[in-house]
Amino acid sequence: MNKSVGVIGLGYVGLPLAIEVAKKGISVIGIDIDKSKIEALNSGKTSIEDINIGDLKTLTENGRLEVTSDYSKIVLCDILLVCVPTPLSNERVPDLKPMLAAIRSIAAYLKPKTLVIIESTVATGTTRNTVLPLLEELVNFPANEIEVAYSPERVDPSNKVWSLQNTPKIVSGITQSSKLRAIEFYSNFISEVIECESVEIAETAKLLENSFRFINISFINEFGIFCNALGIDINQVVKAAGTKPYGFMEFYPSIGVGGHCIPVDPIYLSDKARQVGSPIRMIELADQINRDLPSYFVSRAEKKLNGLEGKKILVVGVSYKPNISDVRETPVFNLISALRNKGAQVSWHDDLVKKFNGEESTQLSNNFDLAIIATAHDYLDWSKIGNLPIITSRSSL
Ligand SMILES: NC(=O)c1ccc[n+]([C@@H]2O[C@H](COP(=O)([O-])OP(=O)(O)OC[C@H]3O[C@@H](n4cnc5c(N)ncnc54)[C@H](O)[C@@H]3O)[C@@H](O)[C@H]2O)c1
Repeated sequence: MNKSVGVIGLGYVGLPLAIEVAKKGISVIGIDIDKSKIEALNSGKTSIEDINIGDLKTLTENGRLEVTSDYSKIVLCDILLVCVPTPLSNERVPDLKPMLAAIRSIAAYLKPKTLVIIESTVATGTTRNTVLPLLEELVNFPANEIEVAYSPERVDPSNKVWSLQNTPKIVSGITQSSKLRAIEFYSNFISEVIECESVEIAETAKLLENSFRFINISFINEFGIFCNALGIDINQVVKAAGTKPYGFMEFYPSIGVGGHCIPVDPIYLSDKARQVGSPIRMIELADQINRDLPSYFVSRAEKKLNGLEGKKILVVGVSYKPNISDVRETPVFNLISALRNKGAQVSWHDDLVKKFNGEESTQLSNNFDLAIIATAHDYLDWSKIGNLPIITSRSSL
């Protein structure tokens, strides 16, 4: 059993991981540069839905999980799990700044042989060609005592079936020793750990998984536009196609892709693909379709109401998918902006999100000309909007 594990970045990936490891009886030090987050966690608060607050409180109170912004604490750790964001810049290209900052902070206190496992999603080659050389440059011990592994996180917030424990985890390491140590570590709390031959294979597998989802979501959304033109219900089409027992996977229409992973990770892949002179055009097309989707719903609203100037529109659900409060990269932001640009008076309702863009969630009611159901949370009581005309992203009709 390991003495102590450090988790760097306590967000949607790092916090559940830190709690899971601590619940296995391993001492965990969770580090985040966001001091307000550390303060909240220390008082047993988090906005991440999947976290059991009882577990968080127990573990922080009994010291099994220490959360802090103080990187010097990592001297106590044998294993570090790096779960910092890997976003896009304003120019929509991979932004490794948070990762590089975390690696620099780690390097200042890293001990020889402490295993550094990167869990953040990165482009192929980043672990070997960016993370490792930076550590080699900054640590004050021989490079052959640096141990680095890569194991991408596959958490799906609010998924009640697939959790951290029962979702198979792929693992690889720069050296055989780092790979075997990482496999041994994850085997403590994950039911199936799968070895990849190289860190590049593990990095690329993660990008493939998320790009597959990205392309299929965009495809089904464009397919929904086609079904709308035909006047048929896409859900019935997908259900019928889904009866084929092989070679088909069901995807359903939505307001588009959002969150920190699906709209972002494929861009890491397509950026890398361009760098090596082998563009993946499917990703670029899917990205375009996804980004055009809010304007498609605006044009449907415009048609339904005979113009949008002065029309009162209620947008229901602003998070990027049902039953979570995460608004990162939510396509609903662009939907609301585009409706307002056309002169509509837009209010929105989402009791999970409550505050968004400096505005507050309004009550569900029928006091509008139209409701656009962007994200259909389970808690919503549709009787409150009565007979209001609706457009829903979950249907082509
Ligand atoms: N959210 C998901 O569902 C999901 C799923 C699989 C993989 N991932 C990947 O995992 C990584 C983390 O994603 P997330 O959703 O947890 O992000 P997040 O934004 O929820 O959390 C990241 C945390 O890291 C902290 N942080 C930023 N820079 C730091 C630094 N230098 N040192 C310490 N802490 C720092 C931030 O304050 C934040 O609390 C990303 O690469 C993402 O693509 C996310």
